[in-house]
Amino acid sequence: MGAKKKLFVCISCGTDFSKWQGKCPSCGEWNSLVETEQAAAKKPGKEKKIIPLSSIGSDEIKRIKTSLEEFNLICGGGIVPGSVILLSGEPGIGKSTLALQIASGFKCLYISGEESPAQLKQRANRLDICSENILVSTNTCTEDISSFVESEKPECVIIDSVQTLYSSDIPGSAGSVSQIKEASARIIEIAKKSGIPAILIGHITKEGSIAGPKLLEHIVDTVLHFEGDFTREFRMIRASKNRFGSVNEVGLFRMTPIGLLEIKDKNNLFLNISALSPGSAISAAIEGSRTLLFEVQALVTFTSFSNPRRMSDGLDFNRLILLTAVLEKHGYIKLNSHDIFINCAGGFHIHETAADLAVAMSVASSLKEKPIPKDTGFLGEISLSGEIRPVTQCERRVIEFSKSGFKKILVPAADGYSIHIPDNIDIVKVKTIYDAINSIF
Ligand SMILES: Nc1ncnc2c1ncn2[C@@H]1O[C@H](COP(=O)(O)OP(=O)(O)OP(=O)(O)O)[C@@H](O)[C@H]1O
Ligand SMILES: [Mg+2]
Repeated sequence: MGAKKKLFVCISCGTDFSKWQGKCPSCGEWNSLVETEQAAAKKPGKEKKIIPLSSIGSDEIKRIKTSLEEFNLICGGGIVPGSVILLSGEPGIGKSTLALQIASGFKCLYISGEESPAQLKQRANRLDICSENILVSTNTCTEDISSFVESEKPECVIIDSVQTLYSSDIPGSAGSVSQIKEASARIIEIAKKSGIPAILIGHITKEGSIAGPKLLEHIVDTVLHFEGDFTREFRMIRASKNRFGSVNEVGLFRMTPIGLLEIKDKNNLFLNISALSPGSAISAAIEGSRTLLFEVQALVTFTSFSNPRRMSDGLDFNRLILLTAVLEKHGYIKLNSHDIFINCAGGFHIHETAADLAVAMSVASSLKEKPIPKDTGFLGEISLSGEIRPVTQCERRVIEFSKSGFKKILVPAADGYSIHIPDNIDIVKVKTIYDAINSIF
């Protein structure tokens, strides 16, 4: 018998090659090729029928509602039967906790490849989950999972985690690229055939991407990322892909000893208005169907280095560099001998340029050591020429400010850009970053 053929698979795009190369010729990623053994050739499929699209029944999808409303929201209203959800997150963020809480609602097959049944039971006791409908197995072989699904007919399958999954006829140990790729594909096949949804839990690498081939994200229906700050109790779940719903929604939770609790008062979650000091500015972000107010904090200090430092937590670093340059050139604020540190309160992450004005104003406020009045909010994107550019759904954001008792909002003053103004709020239209600084300080 000849030796098994070696293959090199790109963990970024999933393409395989017979030789190792420093750069993947397919996706251009560097150092992404890992050695693996060739999987057995696929047998021809049994399904030989071709059917016209029009003859396929179109019953309305009946989504499965879990006991966590926030989770239902990010899935687009509930879990779609037969769909496969990939839930990823850093070690210890709470993936298994969430999975167990989801499982508590219905008959569920929980494949625990990382923890023993006793450890799982310990968590279940802490979360006060004692359901005889949760069936636990530590067998992570896909062939066995398939027979469990056939015999037990659960309403949902949870695989904790996809890195422990393996298929007996695929070479390579569990966790290798070929195993993750093929074994997950088999779970997807089981889900599609039986109509039973599956939740795959995945680890993420140091760089923040899901461990295993990028291909995994392409073949599942929904990709959810569990985010949060370990020093705080807030946890966010964000969808980066959803075949059955919007990807803009975020689910907000609080990690407690009794598990993940849904946060009811979401609007002021990332605010600490009573303690506003120099360097704090507030903006509003649109997160799916929600509008969240959040606080940007800046610390500007005199530097003792020849190259001043810029650091940001919750804001893209390059965006900070760009805003600093605009502030210098068009806001006439000298920052080249100052270190700048940016932080978003409560572990919030800025994803929109609508927060540019708040970031710039927080920097100006810290440098001038003058606090911004606590009932003032900022909306606006800053262009390279120092102009304040319009933001999407400005009205919705202003209404949220008004609901939270804000009295004055600085908004873009672009031509042909009008917003309906609530009566109890003072709208100040600003054209440039220089105007904005002058109107506050
Ligand atoms: N007794 C406790 N009281 C409060 N919080 C706890 C307690 N035990 C665990 N936790 C929280 O649960 C988290 C671990 O949750 P969980 O095991 O679900 O994470 P995970 O993402 O599955 O981790 P892993 O990647 O190791 O599988 C801890 O980081 C901690 O925040
Ligand atoms: Mg876990």
